[in-house]
Amino acid sequence: MNFTLRVWRQNGPAEPGRFEEYPALDIPADASFLEMLDIVNEGLIHKGVEPVQFDHDCREGICGTCSLTIDGVPHGPGRGTTCQLYMRKFQDRDVITIEPFRAAPFPVVRDLAVDRRAFDRIIQSGGFISERTGSAPDANATPIPKPTADFAMDAAACIGCAACAAACPNSSAMLFVSAKIGHLGLLPQGIAEKNRRVLNLVRTMDEEGFGNCSNYYACEAVCPAGIPASFIARMNREYTAASVKEAIGATL
Ligand code: FES
Repeated sequence: MNFTLRVWRQNGPAEPGRFEEYPALDIPADASFLEMLDIVNEGLIHKGVEPVQFDHDCREGICGTCSLTIDGVPHGPGRGTTCQLYMRKFQDRDVITIEPFRAAPFPVVRDLAVDRRAFDRIIQSGGFISERTGSAPDANATPIPKPTADFAMDAAACIGCAACAAACPNSSAMLFVSAKIGHLGLLPQGIAEKNRRVLNLVRTMDEEGFGNCSNYYACEAVCPAGIPASFIARMNREYTAASVKEAIGATL
C-alpha cells in the first residue's frame, strides 16, 4: 500500500512547528501504524533526513505510551491504541495527517512526542493506600460483591494514554482522573483514603491546567479501554461530598 503522510515536525517545545509531506511506499497492509512510521523513518535516515520522533513502548496496547493524533482523532480510526492500528484500516493512496496529542498541559518535546508527566503528577498527588503489604491475602479474606469488583475493573482498565484529554475541546483529563478515583475508591483496600484522594487528584488536575468536562463525550469515544463517562459523574459526587466534609472539619 502507498500513502502520503503529512507529519508535524517541531524541533523543540519553544520552536515553531510545521507539516512536512513524506511518501510511505510499499507498506504491508498488515503493518501497524508504528511499523509504517519505522519504515518511513528508515527511508529518511537513508536520505540523511532527521527521522520523525514518536513515542512508543510495549506496542501491545498495554502501556499507553503511543500518542498520535491521526486525521484529527487521538489514536486514529477505530477504538484502540495507535500501536494496535493497522494500515489495512486505510485506503491505498490515502493522505494521512499525523500530529502530536494536542493539549496545553502536554507540551511538544519534539515532532510527535509530547511530555505527559502532568498525568504522573496527578497520580502522585493521590498518595498511597494504607493497606498493609506483605504476602497476598487469601482471595476470600476480603469479600467484594461481583458487581463492585467488575465496576472497579472497568475503571482499572485505564492505561493512562491521555487520548481522553487530547480529544476533549477543553483538554479535560476528567475521564482519566475519574477512572483512577473509581478504581481505587470502589474497593475496600482504597476506601480509607478516598476523600483525601479525590480532593488531591482533582485539585492537582486543575493546577496542571486541564479543563473541565462539558459533556462532549469525545473522551469516551476515543478511550481504547472503553471507560464510560459515567465515572466522571461519580467523581464529581465524591468530590462534592469530600469538599463538604473538609469544609465542616470532618475527618477525611
Ligand atoms: S506502545 Fe504501549 S500502548 Fe501503544
